Amino acid sequence: MEDVRRTIDWVNGAVEIIDQVALPGEYRTVRLTTVDELIDAIRRLAVRGAPALGGAGALGTALAAFAHDDPAAVRADAERLAGARPTAVNLSWGVSRALARLGDGPDAVLAEALALLDEDERLNREASARAAELILEKCPRRPLRLLTHCNAGRLATVGWGTALGVVWHLQAAGHLEYVLADETRPLLQGARLTAWELAEAGVPHRVLPDAAAAAAMARGMVDCVVVGADRIAVNGDVANKIGTYGLAIAAARHGLPFVVVAPSSTVDPGLASGESIVIEERSPEEITTISGIPVAPPGTNVFNPAFDVTPAELITAVVTEKGPMTP
Ligand code: MRU
Repeated sequence: MEDVRRTIDWVNGAVEIIDQVALPGEYRTVRLTTVDELIDAIRRLAVRGAPALGGAGALGTALAAFAHDDPAAVRADAERLAGARPTAVNLSWGVSRALARLGDGPDAVLAEALALLDEDERLNREASARAAELILEKCPRRPLRLLTHCNAGRLATVGWGTALGVVWHLQAAGHLEYVLADETRPLLQGARLTAWELAEAGVPHRVLPDAAAAAAMARGMVDCVVVGADRIAVNGDVANKIGTYGLAIAAARHGLPFVVVAPSSTVDPGLASGESIVIEERSPEEITTISGIPVAPPGTNVFNPAFDVTPAELITAVVTEKGPMTP
C-alpha cells in the first residue's frame, strides 16, 4: 500500500485522476485541464468519495486561478465547482481553502491545494489507526470480521482510505479474518471499487447484496460495521452512502458496534444536526437500467437519493484523526 498512485493529483499543470468509472475493468488515469472537465468528472463519479472531492475542489480552484487573470472569474468557477455535488462537505471545504490564497497569486493557490493533498493521506492514516484501536477494544473476537458499505478506501480519498484504512491497519497487525463488502446499489461502489482494493491488498473478502447485510449479522458473520462519511453534523449525525442508515439499524438490532471513520474535514462545524443536510438525488436511469438495459417499465417513477443520514444515537463512535468525536 505504500507506493500506490494518488487518486487525484496535480501532474504537469493539470489535474490527474484515477478514472473510477472505468474500474474494475480498466485501471487508467485521466487528465483534466479545465474546471468544466473536472466538474463533469465529479458528476459522473469518475472522481468520488468525500476526501477525494476535497482534493478535487482545491486542485480545481488552482486550475481556475491559472486560467483567469480576473479574480471574479476565478470565484465564479470556484462556486460552480463547489456546487458540482451537494452532500460531501469536503468539496466546498477544499474550494474555500484554496480560494483563500487567491490574493497571493495562482502559485499560492496551488501550494495550498498540494498541502491539502499531503494532509489528507496523513489524517486518514491517523483517523483509521484511532478507529482500529477502538474497534479492537469494543470487539473481543480475534481475528475480526468487518462489514463495510460503499467505498471508503484509497479511491475515495487522496490516499490510504478511511473505513478501508482500518482494514489495512488491522490486516497489518494480523487481526483481520475477512471483510464483507456491500455491493452498494445502484452504482456498485462496493462491488466495483472496494472489492478491487481488497483484492489488490490481498484481504480475504466477499461481496454481498446490500439486502443481505442484516442476514449476515443475524448469522453471526460480523463483529463490527465500519463506514466512511460525507458530512458529519456537530451532534454526531452522519450523512453517508444510501443504505448506511439501514445498516446502522440492523447493527443496533444485533448489538454490533457501528463505527464511522473520517478526516475532520468531513465535520461541518456550521451544521447542528443531520436534518438540514442536502441529499443529492441522482438520475432515474441509475435505477431503471443496468448497464444501459432497461429493468423497469418505461416511465417508472424513481426515488434515487445518493445518501442518507444516520442519527448519532445509532453510531457507536465517529472517529477522526483527533480520536472519537464528542457530539
Ligand atoms: O457517491 P459516492 O461514491 O461519492 O459516495 C461515497 C460515500 O458515500 C463514501 O462512503 C464517503 O464519501 C466516505 S469516503 C472515505
